[in-house]
Amino acid sequence: TKMLFNDQIMDRENLIDIEDRAYQFGDGIYEVIGVYDGTPLMLDEHMERLERSADEVQLKLPASINELKVKLLELVAANKLNEGIIYMQVSRGTSPRWHEFPGLDVMPVTVAYTREEERMSDVEDQGANAVLTEDIRWLRCDIKTLNLLPNVLAKQKAVENNAVEAILHRGDTVTEASASNVFIVKDGELYTHPANNYILNGITRRKVLQICDDLNLKVNEKTYTVTELFKADEVFITATKSDIIPILKIDDKIIGSGKPGEITKKVVQEFRSLYQ
Ligand code: PDD
Repeated sequence: TKMLFNDQIMDRENLIDIEDRAYQFGDGIYEVIGVYDGTPLMLDEHMERLERSADEVQLKLPASINELKVKLLELVAANKLNEGIIYMQVSRGTSPRWHEFPGLDVMPVTVAYTREEERMSDVEDQGANAVLTEDIRWLRCDIKTLNLLPNVLAKQKAVENNAVEAILHRGDTVTEASASNVFIVKDGELYTHPANNYILNGITRRKVLQICDDLNLKVNEKTYTVTELFKADEVFITATKSDIIPILKIDDKIIGSGKPGEITKKVVQEFRSLYQ
């Protein structure tokens, strides 16, 4: 398959230097974009978030987001990708290993590739289990950086317990999950952690907020506790490509009826209409 390396679409090969700062420090940012029937979903929103992440870590993007968008569309076409994801990352560049930023002559390294992935329709319809684990990440979780070790450890714990996700809590407060946002439903209203420095403001999360608005469902962008999570009528998680997954059980506690809830199902149905 083809990859994007800086501004060139080329055959996929490993061109990354051992002193690429992404490799040594996780010093870079990334995006994962879902592709449905050959079309990237919410590409503008992903590119705007990339630009924001770049600003927040003082990384100068090598091209405008419009130029990057054009390249990504070219890549999708070159790979004839129908169903799957685009992964894109920008590192601060390659330079002798010192922690501080390299000189201004060092250009960021941009890479992108695509991967075929089936839709997770079964899990979306049937739901899945999650585990609860402590959120041990830093205090700028709003930036989509390559530093994902805490997320990796949390997800591994989920997988070892036959769960799809690890829901994270900081003290009493539920923040998000290892690679998705979390919503709960209680007495007909939804609750999700506000978009501040403790969570990544997911593109899927934002779309779910819009959908709920259209459906006249009230969403409270307010923190909620671990106890409220376990007592919720419904819980679901949102992320690129896995879209919306109902959570039926967390650790050994059954959520609500133990089946995907009515409000969750409505939101799933509306979300699917975006690309069907
Ligand atoms: N992860 N929170 C975290 C910590 C995430 O890593 C992600 C996405 C989300 C959901 O964001 P979005 O709806 O924009 O995908 C929330 C991607 C998919 C990943 O790292 O693979």
